[in-house]
Amino acid sequence: MKKKLQVLSISLALASAMSILHAEGNANAPYLRPVGNINAGKQKSASCTSCHGDNGNSMVATFPKLAQQHSSYLVRQLHAFKDGSRNDPMMSAMALPLTDEDITDISAYYAAQKISENTLPVLESDDEDEKPAAATDKPADKKDAIQAIIAQGSDLYRNGNLKSEVSACIACHGPFGEGNKPASFPALKSQHADYLIKALTDFKSGARSNNPENIMHMIAKKMTDEEIKAVSYRISMMK
Ligand code: HEC
Ligand code: HEC
Repeated sequence: MKKKLQVLSISLALASAMSILHAEGNANAPYLRPVGNINAGKQKSASCTSCHGDNGNSMVATFPKLAQQHSSYLVRQLHAFKDGSRNDPMMSAMALPLTDEDITDISAYYAAQKISENTLPVLESDDEDEKPAAATDKPADKKDAIQAIIAQGSDLYRNGNLKSEVSACIACHGPFGEGNKPASFPALKSQHADYLIKALTDFKSGARSNNPENIMHMIAKKMTDEEIKAVSYRISMMK
């Protein structure tokens, strides 16, 4: 009897997992995930464009791009700004008046937009120490220095840091920074480097603490500021 029940519960678990997977590709599955109205979302996002740009491609590096982000992640963040579990004075004020329906519509709209590519980050004055010893201030050398930082970031993204036990980002955010839609892990590719640096620094300090299981805090707190910058530069160039 016990064995039979076990078999039954395993097959039930499998069946429900299959139906979730199946529903993922099915736009008519509102019982699993609210599906917003893209056209209504476009209208409702009018007040967002001043910071997040047309089609969610912000021109200001500290305002995140929202284009092509998974709608389930956007929905979660907007609710978090609204209920105060994620703190940002500008965003809390913007999210407060939104209804649940506004949030799903706006999120569906941004998820359906295409994210724009970034140009190579410009070497900042505090990157100077990372410059190879022989480098001068010639533009070509600066470009080499940026490429070296990006290569370091690429290694961290793919392999993590075994010594300091930083997990490889690729495991959750995907080989192309596309995130994981069923798991609602956010896409990162082509995001502004400055915003990524702020996000990781906020996870590290705990200023941003609404992340599930505190996953990103556990990872970011083991990262050095240099690693945060390198991986952010790398991700900003992913297409
Ligand atoms: C005055 C500027 C401003 C306006 C207007 C604004 N935002 Fe934001 N938004 C920000 C900033 C700044 C952040 C980053 C907050 C942080 O660093 O945690 C942000 C973050 C977000 C995020 C989280 C993105 C992520 O990758 O985690 C979402 C979603 C978002 N905004 C949606 C909206 C929507 C929808 C509107 C319109 C209803 C809107 N914003 C209007 C400035 C703005
Ligand atoms: C075990 C899974 C997992 C791993 C590994 C992981 N992340 Fe994340 N990451 C998440 C989840 C889940 C979120 C969403 C957190 C939230 O909802 O606030 C996230 C959010 C982020 C964000 C915020 C995105 C935004 O738009 O605001 C950044 C940046 C980020 N991760 C970078 C990284 C980097 C860099 C690494 C590797 C060093 C990494 N992550 C490794 C699961 C992971």
